[in-house]
Amino acid sequence: MAAAETPTFAGAPEGSRPLHVAIVMDGNGRWAKQRGLPRPLGHRAGVESLRRTVSAAPGLGIGWLTVFGFSTENWSRPAAEVAELMALPKRYFETDLGRLEREGVRVRVIGQREGLSQDLVRLVEDAQARTAHNTVFNLNIAFNYGSQADITAAARRFAEEVAAGRRDPSDLDETMFAGLLATAGAPPPDLIVRPSGEQRLSNFLLWEAAYAELVFQDVLWPDYGEEHLKAALAEFAARDRRYGAIVADDVLAAG
Ligand code: FPP
Repeated sequence: MAAAETPTFAGAPEGSRPLHVAIVMDGNGRWAKQRGLPRPLGHRAGVESLRRTVSAAPGLGIGWLTVFGFSTENWSRPAAEVAELMALPKRYFETDLGRLEREGVRVRVIGQREGLSQDLVRLVEDAQARTAHNTVFNLNIAFNYGSQADITAAARRFAEEVAAGRRDPSDLDETMFAGLLATAGAPPPDLIVRPSGEQRLSNFLLWEAAYAELVFQDVLWPDYGEEHLKAALAEFAARDRRYGAIVADDVLAAG
C-alpha cells in the first residue's frame, strides 16, 4: 500500500474526513459476558477488531489512528485481568508487526514505561524502531496512558527546565506545551470514537481533544469493523466544525 494509492473515503471532499481518528476500544468485557465467556476472551477478540480497523483505516483516507489499549486506571483491575491486558501488545505484534512494517505503518506506543515489564518495554521499543522510517500510516497505541498524568508530567518537565534556567515561563504557549505531551508530532485528533454506548473520554487525550468531534456508537469493540468506522466517518462529515468561530453566512447576518 503506497500513500499515493490511498483512496479517499467515498469521494468525500478534503476537510469532511478526519486525518486523525482516535478510538476508545471499549466493551470487551461486556462482549465476553454476553457470550458466557471469560473476560480475557473479550480482550483477545478486541485485538482482532484492532487488526480489522487498522486494515480499513488507510483506505478510508485516515492517516493517523490512536487507540486506547490500557489506561493508568486499569491497574486497579484484578491481577489476572491486568496480566491478560499486559499480554495483548505481544499477541498483536507477534501476528501483525511484520505486515505493519511492510505496509508502511509507523507504530508508536504512548504512555508511561514505568510499571511495564522489561520484556514488554523491549517489545514496544523494538516495534517502534522497526517501523520508525514508515510514512504511509501512523498507529499510536496508548498503553499505560492517562491524559492527566501526561499533562502533569509535561508541566513538571517544563517547570524543571525553568528551575534549571534553560527556559523562561514566557516561552510557554499552546504549541510548545503540545510538544511536551506523549502525542508530540501527531496532528490533534479530528474525531474521537467510543463504541460500547458509554459517553465519556475516560482520561484519553484531554488536551488533544480540544476541537475533536466525538462520536459514540452502540456496538461493543469486539464487534467493531470497517462498517462501523465508515458510519463514524459519515457522522463526522455531517458535523459543522467551527473551532469557536461562526460560519460565513452568519458573519454576513451579524454584519
Ligand atoms: C475496555 O473494555 C478495553 C480495555 C481495557 C482493553 C482494550 C484493549 C484491546 C481492545 C486490545 C488492544 C490491543 C493492544 C495491542 C493493546 P472493558 O474491558 O472495560 O469492557 P467492559 O466495559 O465491557 O467491561
